[in-house]
Amino acid sequence: MRILITGGAGFLGSYLCESLIRDGNEVTALDLAGPERVKDLLGHKKFTFIQGSVLDKKLLKEEVGKSDLIFHFAAIANPQTYVLKPLTTLEIDLRATLDILELAAAKSIKVVFASTSEIYGRNPNVPWKEDDERVLGSTKINRWCYATAKAAGEHYCYAYRQQKGLPFVIVRFFNVYGPREDDPGTGRVIPIFLKQFLTKEKISVHGDGKQTRSFAYIDDVTKGILAVSLSKKAEYMSFNIGSKRETTILELAQIMKKMGRFESEIAFIPHVEVFGESYEDIPRRVPNVDRIKEITGWKATTSLEEGLKITIDYYRKRPETIKV
Ligand SMILES: NC(=O)c1ccc[n+]([C@@H]2O[C@H](COP(=O)([O-])OP(=O)(O)OC[C@H]3O[C@@H](n4cnc5c(N)ncnc54)[C@H](O)[C@@H]3O)[C@@H](O)[C@H]2O)c1
Repeated sequence: MRILITGGAGFLGSYLCESLIRDGNEVTALDLAGPERVKDLLGHKKFTFIQGSVLDKKLLKEEVGKSDLIFHFAAIANPQTYVLKPLTTLEIDLRATLDILELAAAKSIKVVFASTSEIYGRNPNVPWKEDDERVLGSTKINRWCYATAKAAGEHYCYAYRQQKGLPFVIVRFFNVYGPREDDPGTGRVIPIFLKQFLTKEKISVHGDGKQTRSFAYIDDVTKGILAVSLSKKAEYMSFNIGSKRETTILELAQIMKKMGRFESEIAFIPHVEVFGESYEDIPRRVPNVDRIKEITGWKATTSLEEGLKITIDYYRKRPETIKV
């Protein structure tokens, strides 16, 4: 199959590129960032890397037209950026999604759309099933623009299917982590903590650290994405992909400290000091993963301790920033 992966040089995208190439597919990764995360694939005869933007409609049209399957993973996906650059976030996470769905629908090309656990917002009734309520905050709060863009993208998937016959699958990720995530000290929580541990700084737990997340290891998640993407039964459905284990952020810091035999102390910082006023936290985040298990048999199998150990070892060996 000829496969286009937007955001193919991102964290999840790079693992997908590797798996799909291993399975004999022709893969094109389109990404605004450089190819650092896919550098081992450069030169492979079935791999093409294009450094470009999903906002470039001409490029998008050419690449979509050549594909049998599209993984639309390009996005602004880290909280600092979507709080500081809401317009850029909406442009990339919503406008480009619409363009891709429109182009794919015209040729009936299947799209696997990367969505997020953020779309459930602050629904207090965890674990969340795919069709559960979404409880989002005010549109004045930038934090919700990411969730809103992704949820609108999902609506468009269903709408394009109904009126234009688009084949699609929606995958909603819950805090994926592993080697090659963000640069140490940037992006999401584990790379941020890791930099602090590796440089013996205090660990900056936001708020009281009682907010929970469910962390899923990248290799498990990649298998889950492929399982639903290649399944006929999974078409036109949305899937939570994550681990059922609920962990507070304070526990995460403590487990990382133990697994890496680190010495840093843990400190608590108010959210407002980190993100300013345009941020609200989500108290609990846990997926119900019965649907993906029922349709494909997939479940996460890597324990948090095991996955963190691999991740810590990776960053420890390569403390230099991954420049992307
Ligand atoms: N990692 C997670 O835990 C998680 C959780 C929920 C949802 N997601 C979703 O999964 C997808 C992949 O996430 P990730 O963790 O790999 O994030 P990532 O930031 O590592 O990857 C996203 C990639 O998109 C690229 N990109 C951004 N703007 C672009 C543009 N205009 N044109 C082309 N490429 C552009 C970035 O350069 C980056 O390489 C995203 O859509 C994200 O919203 C991820």
